[in-house]
Amino acid sequence: NEYNTLQHLKNNLKNKIVTIRIDANIPIVNGVITDNSRLKEALPSIIFALNEGAAKVLLLSHFGRPKAGKREKEFSLMQVKEEIEKLVGEEIDFAENFDFKISNSNKRIILFENLRYNEEEEKGSETFAKTLANLGDIYVNDAFSCAHRPHASISEIRKFTKVYAGFLMEKEIEAITAITSKSSGKVFTIVGGSKVSTKISLLKNLVKKMVHSL
Ligand code: 3PG
Repeated sequence: NEYNTLQHLKNNLKNKIVTIRIDANIPIVNGVITDNSRLKEALPSIIFALNEGAAKVLLLSHFGRPKAGKREKEFSLMQVKEEIEKLVGEEIDFAENFDFKISNSNKRIILFENLRYNEEEEKGSETFAKTLANLGDIYVNDAFSCAHRPHASISEIRKFTKVYAGFLMEKEIEAITAITSKSSGKVFTIVGGSKVSTKISLLKNLVKKMVHSL
């Protein structure tokens, strides 16, 4: 790969604080999680960091689309804390804010509250990105599904720290590269998902590639 990956940090994570930007934006209906796939897909990076001896793993994510800077309860990531605990098999901490004292926590994993409770996230604020970059020693982006967003935790962060692709990000990049760089044979694509308006440029690009590959 020509990009930095978490795998490259093997044997270099001991006692490090590893921040991982995941996509924990999962469907919850009447308080019940109806699909935890995104959390399961986030596990390999989290487990890798812990197995490599990281002192802490800090999890950052958005959840839904709360009104700019408003702490609406229905968008709290507190709702996914227990599910993450079940998946990782240990208790985790929850940080309401970024002034949370990481060193005071006796848990290995700390889940931070919805990034979008801070309006600076979606505005792509450099100050906020700097705060996020300074939380830990290593910053990992494992949120491919948000990679198109010009937000503080996704793109702005790169101005303040080196960003490593997590295992899920790598897997997604490999999958999309395999179809878009195919030079022979026929490619058949099935595209799913909601919010087509934000995916239209991606679809247009795919169409070009697919036609090209025929
Ligand atoms: C998604 O569900 O598509 C991702 O979590 C991104 O969410 P967003 O469209 O609100 O940025």
